[in-house]
Parts: sequence; C-alpha cells; structure tokens
Amino acid sequence: MEPIKRVSAEKYYMNVISLLGMLLSAISAIVIVLFLALQAFRGFENPYLEIVTFFLLPGGILFGGVMTYFGAWRTRIKHRRNPNVELPPLPRLDFNDPSKLRLTAFFALVTVVFFAVIGVASIKGFEFTESTVFCGEVCHVPMEPEHVAWQGSPHARVRCVECHVGSGLDYYVKAKINGTRQLYSVLTGTYPTPIPTPVHNLRPARGTCERCHWPEKFISARHKIFSHNAPNEENAKRELQMLIKIGGTPGAPNTSGIHWHIGKEVSYVATDEKRQVIPYVAVKHSNGTIDEYVSTEKPITKEEVAKHEKRVMDCIDCHNRPAHSYNPPSDELDHGFEAHRLDPSLPYLKKIASELLEKPYKSNEEAVASIDKEIQAYYAKNYPALVTSKAASIKQASEEVQRIYSRNYFPKMKVVWSAYPTNMGHFYFPGCFRCHDGKHKNAAGKIISKDCNLCHSVLSQTQENIPKGTQVKDFVHPVDIGDEMKKTNCSECHAPAGIDVTGGEVKKH
Ligand code: HEC
Ligand code: HEC
Ligand code: HEC
Ligand code: HEC
Ligand code: HEC
Ligand code: HEC
Repeated sequence: MEPIKRVSAEKYYMNVISLLGMLLSAISAIVIVLFLALQAFRGFENPYLEIVTFFLLPGGILFGGVMTYFGAWRTRIKHRRNPNVELPPLPRLDFNDPSKLRLTAFFALVTVVFFAVIGVASIKGFEFTESTVFCGEVCHVPMEPEHVAWQGSPHARVRCVECHVGSGLDYYVKAKINGTRQLYSVLTGTYPTPIPTPVHNLRPARGTCERCHWPEKFISARHKIFSHNAPNEENAKRELQMLIKIGGTPGAPNTSGIHWHIGKEVSYVATDEKRQVIPYVAVKHSNGTIDEYVSTEKPITKEEVAKHEKRVMDCIDCHNRPAHSYNPPSDELDHGFEAHRLDPSLPYLKKIASELLEKPYKSNEEAVASIDKEIQAYYAKNYPALVTSKAASIKQASEEVQRIYSRNYFPKMKVVWSAYPTNMGHFYFPGCFRCHDGKHKNAAGKIISKDCNLCHSVLSQTQENIPKGTQVKDFVHPVDIGDEMKKTNCSECHAPAGIDVTGGEVKKH
C-alpha cells in the first residue's frame, strides 16, 4: 500500500459543496445582523420578516455549516481512496502563510461569530414569539377580532402572553405545544369560526391577573355613570349614577362587597359550554363547612353534580372579557353621543344606527358601504332639510357607525358581539344573575341574594319618565314593566336576538 500523501486539511474545504455552505452561512449571518441593525435604528416590526430572520436564517447558518463539513468529509474520503487526485490550491490570501495557525484561528473566529449571531437571533426569536405582533398578526384572519378588541381595551398595553401564558417554563412549553397545533389548523384552514369561548385550559388567574392586580386592594366603592340615549326622535339622554360596591377585600375586617368571592372558595357547576347556566354553587367556609346552593328553577341531582367538572371561581368568571370585549351597538352608540362623535340633534340616529349595525353583512366592505348609503338615504328621504344644514354631522355619524361596525363585527370569523357573552353585570346576558337570580337555595332555605342594593346603590337617575328634580332611590325602568323587573332576569327581555339566555348558545346570526 502506498503511504497516504499528507495534505493540509484546509484543502479538503475547497470543493463546491463546502464553498456553497460557507457562502450560505455567511450570507445568512450578514442578513441577520443587517436586520437587527435596521430594527434597532428604525424600530419597525414585521411578523413575516421576523419569522424569516429569527427562524429561517439561523437555520441557514447551521445548514451552511453542515454543508461545509459534509463537502470536506466527502473530498477527504475521495482523496483517501485515490490520493493522486489533485486538490485545488487554497486561494492566495495573506494568512495562507505560515498558514496553519492563522487559518485555524480564522475558522474558529468565524464559528464563534456564527454561533453568536445564532444566539442573538434565538433570543430575539423567543422574544418575538412572546410579542403581540406574533400572537395577533401572524395568524391575521383567525386572531383579528381578538386583536382588534384588545387594542381598544384597558389592557392594550398588556401583552397577550401575560394573560394567556404567564411566567414559568411549564406554561411556556404548554403554550408552544398548543401553538403548534393552532398553527397547523391555520395552515390547513381548519380553525373554528368563531373561535370558541371560554378558553378551557386558561391558566388560573392567580398566575396571570393577580401578578398585576392585588385583590387585597379592592376596597370601598366606585362611582359609575351609565349614560344612555333613548331610541326615540330626540335620542333623549338617560343617565344613571350608581355606587358600585367593589369592596370585599379578602382577610380585611369588613369584607363585604363584590370581591367577596375571591377571599372564599366558591365553586360551581355549569351545564353548558359557555358557562351561562349554573344550577349548582358551593361555598367553602373557613371552618371547613360547605354551603351548597341549588337552582329551584333548573334543579340538578347530586349524581349529576358529581358527573360535572367543578370550577373554582376566579377573576375570569366575572371579568371574562377584560381584553376582548365586543360591545353591543346600543352601548357603543351611547359612547359615541357622550364623546360628541354623534350629534343627538339628528332625529332617530340611535334607532337607525342600531338597526343598521345589527343587519347581517357578508363582508366588512359590504357593511361599511351599506351603512353610509343607508344613513344618507334615511335623512334624504325623511328629513331632506337636514341634508344640507347638517351635512357635516351626517357624514361624521356615518363614519362613527362604520367604525363601530369594524370594531365589533368580523364577518370572516363569524364574530358578532352576541357570540361572546360578558359576565359583568346582568343586562344583556345573565352575568351575576347566573347565581344571584334569587332562585338558588341552600338546605336551610337561604337564597343567593338578588337584592338590587347588594352590589350597587342608585345615586341619581334622569330619564323621560322621571319628573325633573325627583330624587329616586331605586332604579326606575324606562318603560313600565310592573314587578317583572324584580321577578324576571333582565336578560330574558334584553338578550340579543338569536340568543337563548337559558341555554346561552347562539342560534343564528
Ligand atoms: C388582560 C388579559 C388578556 C390579554 C392581554 C389578552 N387576552 Fe385573550 N383572553 C383573555 C381572557 C380572560 C379570555 C377569555 C377566557 C374565558 O372566558 O375563558 C381570552 C380569550 C381569548 C381567545 C379565545 C376566544 C375568545 O375571544 O374568547 C383568543 C383567541 C384570545 N384571547 C387571543 C388573544 C390575543 C391574540 C391577545 C393579544 C393580542 C390576547 N388574547 C390578549 C385575557 C386576555
Ligand atoms: C401586566 C399587568 C396586567 C395583567 C396581567 C392584567 N392586568 Fe388588568 N389592568 C392592568 C392595568 C395597568 C390596568 C389599568 C388600565 C387603565 O386604567 O388604563 C388594568 C385594568 C383592569 C381593570 C379595570 C378596567 C376598567 O375598566 O377600569 C380590570 C377589571 C382588570 N384590569 C382585570 C384584569 C383581569 C381579569 C386580568 C386577568 C385576566 C388582568 N386584569 C390582567 C394591568 C394588568
Ligand atoms: C357562581 C355563582 C356566583 C356568581 C356568578 C356571582 N356570585 Fe356573588 N355570590 C355568590 C354566593 C354563593 C354568595 C354568598 C351568598 C351568601 O352567603 O349569602 C355571593 C355573594 C355576593 C355578594 C355579597 C358579599 C358579601 O359581602 O357578603 C356580592 C356583593 C356579590 N355576590 C356580587 C356579585 C356580582 C357583582 C356578581 C357578578 C359580577 C356575582 N356576585 C356573581 C355566588 C355567585
Ligand atoms: C363576582 C365577580 C367578580 C370577581 C370574581 C372579580 N371581580 Fe373584579 N370587579 C367585579 C365588578 C362587578 C367590578 C365593578 C365593575 C364596574 O364598576 O364596572 C369589578 C371591578 C374590578 C376592578 C376595577 C376596580 C376599580 O377600583 O375601579 C379591577 C381592577 C378588578 N375588578 C379586578 C379583579 C381581579 C384581578 C379579580 C380576581 C382576583 C377580580 N376582579 C374578581 C366583579 C368581580
Ligand atoms: C349580584 C350583584 C347585582 C345585583 C343583585 C343587582 N345588580 Fe345591577 N348591576 C350589577 C353590576 C355588576 C352592574 C354593572 C357593571 C358595569 O357595567 O359596570 C349592574 C348594572 C346595573 C344597571 C345598569 C345597566 C346599564 O347598562 O345601564 C342597572 C340599571 C341595574 N344594575 C339594576 C339592577 C336592579 C334593578 C337590580 C335588582 C333587581 C339589580 N341591578 C341587582 C350587579 C348587580
Ligand atoms: C319584561 C321585559 C323586561 C324586563 C324583565 C326588563 N326590561 Fe328593561 N326594557 C324592556 C323594554 C321593552 C325596554 C324599552 C326599550 C327602550 O325604550 O329603550 C327596556 C329598556 C331598558 C333600559 C333602557 C335601555 C337604553 O338603551 O336606554 C334599561 C337601562 C333597562 N331596560 C334596564 C333593565 C334592567 C336593569 C332590568 C332587570 C333588573 C330590566 N331592564 C328588565 C323590557 C324589560
């Protein structure tokens, strides 16, 4: 056997595969560095570019590295088999002489730089998967409603992951596994429309909400003004001022008030998907005794209770739309009047705008065009004098109603405000009255109270049917409904069309 001719190892790298690999690694690294620099100076965010830079390009560096070594390995094998094959000479760079040491140093340096770039890209990539841009905009169509609603919520500066993941590796891994499944459903177009609520595996509020909010600090009461406009010719202003008893500080000496539930262990059984029907409630007292309340209207047996999952009440059982509230047209229009974006001197504006918003449309474009056309047409037909004298107000009204539509209705995702019941209050949806309907009794005959002064007290009210200057003590309903107001849950009359408040499911829309 012929002795193998010694060649300098670097020569093995002078082959097409290795050279291409090196080129790929170098270009990937340079593009990552350029992108990071651009981002640092210009501060822009683009989900697709970020996916490429933080996931694809580091892959490029690694793949280039693998190619480089593979090429060299292949050449070496070939060369061992046939040592007479000429290896191409190294390019005559300066460090070729006294070659070895400098060249090794050069390769080592390049490797360190590549790994540093991969490291930085991975950190940025991790940060990016935690950003609202990633959660809200990468899967643009399915996440659009939640993203838009979040932008208009009190939590618009709180990132998605702070409520949906929280801190800790276990929840991070869970979220990524879930996310991969969701990504698959987006790529294959198999995601549900609308996205179902509630989120069944949402992290308990202790690990999310309570990292910023401090239940110990819920004290006393909050003065709140409810401003409405009647659906009549004058858009008559109605105003109700109430003191909302938000106290209930756990552990404090005087623990009465709405947040009482947090200091106690209150658990319940819901018989429907959206947790709107609650026939069973249990309160665990500090001495260990358990008080069980069962609905007299929709009774449930012990066996059925045992079969269902018992949920311990936390923040989300009341505040279930803290970041994604889709508001009913009436509330949005009331805010529009309050903010002077809607002119109350336009007759019947509230009524026609509510009706236009609730019409079914196939797309946002169709809705926006139709709303403008119909508002113009309504005033042209019924109040022609206003078309010129109030032209600016009519135009502004049309724009505001279009904005309300785009903020609360998403035809592509079949999202309408009524598909996502809110549990705060008791007006459109059962909310507090899921338990506080005066029909949940314990063995001793005690009921979960529906007393109108339990949670709030009326400070003042102005309304068409209240003589000016009268100081009311209790809420006066705008139309006389007799004792129905106390007997029947408000949502049974006020629920949006298509919603069966007793079953909580959307039937049509
Ligand atoms: C302040 C906390 C909070 C923030 C911030 C937040 N969410 Fe949510 N999100 C919730 C809660 C609470 C629910 C409903 C939970 C329930 O009822 O089970 C929810 C529900 C959802 C749902 C399920 C469908 C639905 O509407 O009920 C999606 C999807 C969603 N969020 C996406 C996002 C995205 C995307 C972001 C960031 C742009 C985000 N969330 C930010 C608290 C938050
Ligand atoms: C990262 C911190 C953070 C997290 C997590 C967080 N919040 Fe908040 N929340 C805030 C801040 C800050 C405000 C005040 C916003 C303002 O006043 O503009 C706020 C406001 C609120 C309000 C009052 C809104 C109003 O209309 O006055 C409620 C209710 C609330 N949060 C509930 C929740 C719930 C429920 C969760 C968990 C699902 C949660 N928050 C998670 C920071 C947070
Ligand atoms: C899952 C059932 C359930 C829901 C939903 C619920 N509560 Fe309660 N609530 C209870 C029970 C049980 C009690 C205690 C009854 C008792 O001991 O008299 C209670 C007591 C109260 C009290 C009196 C606390 C005290 O100081 O003694 C207030 C105030 C209250 N709830 C407000 C609300 C509000 C506001 C909502 C809706 C945002 C609501 N609750 C939703 C079950 C519920
Ligand atoms: C029984 C239902 C219920 C539960 C459970 C509940 N809240 Fe509330 N919370 C309310 C109601 C009702 C209000 C008053 C809302 C209003 O005034 O519009 C309120 C008000 C608030 C406010 C605003 C307080 C202020 O000073 O303006 C914050 C913040 C808040 N809740 C956070 C939380 C957090 C965090 C949790 C969980 C630890 C929680 N809530 C649990 C019903 C509840
Ligand atoms: C278990 C607690 C609770 C009980 C009992 C209760 N309410 Fe309320 N109510 C609330 C909460 C919470 C809100 C509103 C929260 C919000 O929107 O800020 C509310 C809001 C209201 C509003 C304002 C609705 C609006 O949008 O203008 C009226 C009116 C009202 N309640 C009347 C009543 C009457 C009448 C009764 C007695 C039959 C009653 N409430 C019993 C908790 C309660
Ligand atoms: C028997 C059916 C019925 C019940 C029960 C009922 N309402 Fe009404 N409510 C009506 C009707 C009808 C109107 C009239 C619509 C209008 O003129 O605004 C109305 C209007 C209202 C309005 C005015 C809305 C606005 O936009 O100005 C408020 C506020 C109201 N109801 C509160 C309540 C509350 C709170 C309860 C429960 C304590 C309740 N209603 C129970 C039938 C009912």
